[in-house]
Formats: sequence, C-alpha cells, structure tokens
Amino acid sequence: MTADIEPIRRVGDVVEILDQRKLPASVEWITCTTGCDVREAIVTLAIRGAPAIGIAGLYGLWLEAQRLHDQENFLGQLRQSAESIRHARPTAVNLAWAIDGALSEINGLDANQVGDRLRTMADTLKMRDQQDNRLMGEWGAGLFAGPVRILTHCNTGSLATAGFGTALGVVRSLHQKGWIREVLVDETRPLLQGARLTAWELHHDGIPARLVTDSMAGHLMALGQVDAVIVGADRIAHNGDTANKIGTYGLAVLARYHAIPFYIAAPISTFDPDTPHGDQIPIEERSPDEVRSILGKNIAPNAMPVYNPAFDVTPHFLISAIITERGVAYEPLEQSLHSLANPHQDLGS
Ligand code: MRU
Repeated sequence: MTADIEPIRRVGDVVEILDQRKLPASVEWITCTTGCDVREAIVTLAIRGAPAIGIAGLYGLWLEAQRLHDQENFLGQLRQSAESIRHARPTAVNLAWAIDGALSEINGLDANQVGDRLRTMADTLKMRDQQDNRLMGEWGAGLFAGPVRILTHCNTGSLATAGFGTALGVVRSLHQKGWIREVLVDETRPLLQGARLTAWELHHDGIPARLVTDSMAGHLMALGQVDAVIVGADRIAHNGDTANKIGTYGLAVLARYHAIPFYIAAPISTFDPDTPHGDQIPIEERSPDEVRSILGKNIAPNAMPVYNPAFDVTPHFLISAIITERGVAYEPLEQSLHSLANPHQDLGS
C-alpha cells in the first residue's frame, strides 16, 4: 500500500496546505502563517472536503493565537478570527464543530496557554481523523460479500480528510481485500473534484477505475454496471437527511429506482443533531463563473445567468445506511445516528 496523501501539515510554526486547485497538473504547497491565510485557502477550495476544512480551521485558529498572543484583548480578537474562519464555508458542519469545540476548550485558559492547547487539539484532530477513516473503511467493507463495482461522486479521499478518506476510505479497504472490480468516478461538475482529485488518488493507489461524466450514472445503472453507490457528506441532519456535493441527490434517486444500495460514509463529527431536517441545512452558493467556465476557459456567454448551489440534500429515506467510525446506522436513521453520536467529545484529550 502506498503512503497516505495528506492535504495539510504543520511544519514547525507554520501550516502548509496542498493546493488542490492545482491538482493533478502540479503538486504545490501554500504556506500559511495567519488565520486569514487558512481562511482564504478554505474559501478558494485550495483545501476542501468537510473533515479537511475542520482540521484546517483549527490550525488557522492556532496560527491566530500565535500571532495575537501579546496583544491587548487577546481572547476577544481570537474569537473574532474564529468567527471569520467558522463562516468561510457554511454547509460542512465539521468546520463550525471544530471551531466551537476549540473555543469551549480554551475558555478560562491563560492567554499564554492557548496557543499550545490549540496546536495540540489540531494535531490530535488530524491524527484521530486518520484513525477514524480506517475504522470507517472496515465497517463499510463489511457491508459487502465479494468483488464489487462502486460508483462515487466528488472527492472523499485523503485530500478531503486527514488521510485515507471516508467513502474513498471504504473503497481503499475493499481494494485491500481484493474486492474492487472497478470504481466509477463521476467527474463532478462544476469544479471537477472527481476528475481532478478522486481520479488522481485512485491512480496513485493503483485502484481500478474509470472516469465518467455526471450524466452517465443512470445509463451505467441501467446496464447493471453499478453494485453500490458510496458518497461522503458535508452535514447530516438529526433525521438523517444528508447534504453532500451537488448531484448526490440525483444519484440517490437513480439508485433507488434501480434497486442499488446507496451508502453515505461520514465521521460522527458530520452529524449535526441541532439541525432537525435537511431543508434547514444552509446550502452554499458559489460564483456563477464556476458554471460558465471549465478550468478557467469560458464555455457560456459571459452574461448568462447561473444557479450554482455547491450541495444538495438527499432525504434519509433514500439512504440505505450511513457508515461511521463507530458502526453502521440504518433506518430509522434518527434513532440509530443518535445512539452512535457523541457530539460533545473532547478534541484535546
Ligand atoms: O465543495 P467540496 O469539494 O468541499 O465538497 C466536498 C464534498 O461534497 C464531499 O463529498 C464531502 O465534503 C465529504 S468529504 C470526506
């Protein structure tokens, strides 16, 4: 097995982020020395994927604590920065979860203790995410009895997490058992996370895969070439409704029509018990230019009006199961997720 790709690393007193906008053409790292640098990397999708932006947010807060540490009203200023990082992307709950967890953890600490505490929390979250993804992979692989063809969407691999991946982690675990016949990779318009990132990761690991455009999924299912769909999640509401990359809902509907299992793989930190239903999940809308162009090249008239929601919501009843690091949740998802979840866990211990 090849070493995990890591999207973010701490090097001494700075944080380096693998610039995913440049992949697969080139591997370039951005050096971040402030919370603003990290926020910018999150907003522009240099780093993306729900668990990865949670970890990045926490490192951003640590950088701010180092930078502000001698200033007056240190905690007030740090909280302001936390608020700005927290809102960099609204849909993936992992970002808010990580920042809120950090703020409650440093409450009452002396200013000179805060930096070390945040650094430990970020390092711990990163390490735990890698471990949890391997557990998720094992739980997910346990759902299958032999070789399979998996269709996946967007990028849920090492690049979207601290390493190994969620849905792609399940794929990696299946591959380790010799059970991947083929992965069908949706290219994932508008930003092509499937074509640029998932294809790159699968190729890196030597996992058999074919790239398809998003509009081919139904045809492949009708031909009997898909045994299961596995995707990630950005936020799972209390009732199990799940927000994920735009196009996921359509896949779930197609999978149900063709009687193909549709699985979500996500850590418990993506479960948001405070959001009762999917229609209350904030959906990020991004720049019209992402739709009007592909890789910087215009494909539509400049003035063409555009709708560009980055995520959609799959209702819980279309989901066969949710794979987490603590086990697999089945319908009724509301109850099974609730019993798996421990949303107030201590990141620092
Ligand atoms: O806009 P992105 O690239 O951050 O969207 C990412 C996704 O939708 C992923 O499927 C999700 O974050 C799960 S990543 C393990």
